[in-house]
Amino acid sequence: MAISFDRLRVDAARLRQVALTELFDADPERCHALAFRHGPVFADLSRQRIDLAALASLIQAARDAGLEKAIEGLFAGAEVNVSERRPALHTALRGVGPADAVRRAADAIERMERLIELLRHDPSSTFGMNRVTDVVSVGIGGSDLGPRLLLDALERRSRGLPRVHFVSNVDGDVLQRLLPRLDPGTTLVVLISKSFGTSETLINGHSLIEWMQRHHGGNRDAALRQFMAVTADTDRAATFGIARSRILPLWPWVGGRLSLWSCVGFAVALAVGPGVFRRLQQGAASMDEHFRDAPLEANLPVLLALVGLWNRNLMACPSHALVPYADRLRLLPAWLQQLDMESNGKSVGPDGRPVDMATAPVIWGGVGTDAQHAFFQCLHQGTDVLPVEFIGVVRPTHDFDAHHRALLANLLAQGAALMRGQSTEQALERLRDSGLHGAELLALAAQQTFPGNRPSTTLLLDDLEPESLGALLALYEHRTYVQGVLWGIDPFDQWGVELGKRLAEQIEPALTGAPPPAEADASTRALLAEILSRQDA
Ligand code: F6P
Repeated sequence: MAISFDRLRVDAARLRQVALTELFDADPERCHALAFRHGPVFADLSRQRIDLAALASLIQAARDAGLEKAIEGLFAGAEVNVSERRPALHTALRGVGPADAVRRAADAIERMERLIELLRHDPSSTFGMNRVTDVVSVGIGGSDLGPRLLLDALERRSRGLPRVHFVSNVDGDVLQRLLPRLDPGTTLVVLISKSFGTSETLINGHSLIEWMQRHHGGNRDAALRQFMAVTADTDRAATFGIARSRILPLWPWVGGRLSLWSCVGFAVALAVGPGVFRRLQQGAASMDEHFRDAPLEANLPVLLALVGLWNRNLMACPSHALVPYADRLRLLPAWLQQLDMESNGKSVGPDGRPVDMATAPVIWGGVGTDAQHAFFQCLHQGTDVLPVEFIGVVRPTHDFDAHHRALLANLLAQGAALMRGQSTEQALERLRDSGLHGAELLALAAQQTFPGNRPSTTLLLDDLEPESLGALLALYEHRTYVQGVLWGIDPFDQWGVELGKRLAEQIEPALTGAPPPAEADASTRALLAEILSRQDA
């Protein structure tokens, strides 16, 4: 049952009239009362336009909507993916959930680790190569964004381990740029596709086979020995030409965007070491247990989800910006974008009825401090209020202490500036010695006025060790689930991506001169004609 905002509207109307700074004046302790921690993750919600009474109402509304049962159901293997009639057992990938799924996931990881051992010490036996210098991980969406993020965040020094490259886009320029840098005799290709039916991945896979085949004097079998796959459709991968001994499993009960903890992370586990991969899973497992067991009042994923609903549904904020102040997390916004927008970007519930409230906000962001020099102007002085989630890391992964101090100072300053703003009087004061007068002075002071009262959440990770990263990513997964539940939608399907895929299949032949599909609309026909007329120009 979707959440009801009826009783919350009173709180929202009250809090819309109050500035964040006034909330702090009235209750300086709110920075402690609205701070929460689980393990290495600390969350400060005090810069949100909410108070303890409103938070209590939100929690009650979530409880009334059956959130506790929904959490229980997720872990018990209930059919939470209603439209596809499946459970969503991604937590089993890190050992939390129904025993059968946990066992299957653990077996797969053990198989993955054995293959990694072989690759490191005896690649010729299984892969026909004397050594492996490069691994190309081919996949898209959930079969790409997670592993890419993990590697970027966790790789320290490669200690002679293979270099990992990611290929996702069907744009031929990806291979055009990558292949000259690779030796086909020492390159392993991992095709990652839950369905093994995603056209981008298959096209990239075919081109890589042809490239490898040329190296082997046209011998396709020799080329295919340097390929492996991760998929839930073993038969399709085998038909594609991958030996079953080199296919690692996935299951229908793991959503693509929730699959990074599985063998989808093969290249990552190879590059950072299986031990690091397991530590990542342990961090996630700890967040799973917290999410499953903690009361709603102290439950980090639940609290973050409720603040998100507050901003989206009661404060009418159209987007949610994520700004990690950690270069190693620069890919986090892209990963979260898929997780959140593919899960909750829906307007109809599992019963087929339209939902009567706004769902997923636009998720976007960038890395701090770079983002400060890109879009922060709009956050501070634009006409929309755009909530921000900052992420800071307390202990750095490098030795440049002065850099880290500057980074954290910027993180703290931005949240403060968004909240406090700068009044016109303050701007005038700063312009006292400017030599300007009258209308000119007032005009500049107006432009240097910051409205403030712009909400943000600050998450602090103790460090960027695998456990903390695992906990952070699991926190986001669970937040997304809670929001889907409370909006009354199925967060685990993605029917909205199908139509475009189907139309692309119909249109493609027309690009080689076949007549456009009968149902093609006038604008598509005109664009096709334009492309064809210019192709040989
Ligand atoms: O974009 C749709 C989608 O199905 C995602 O949900 C998924 O992560 C991606 O495509 C890739 O799918 P697959 O792993 O089956 O190739």
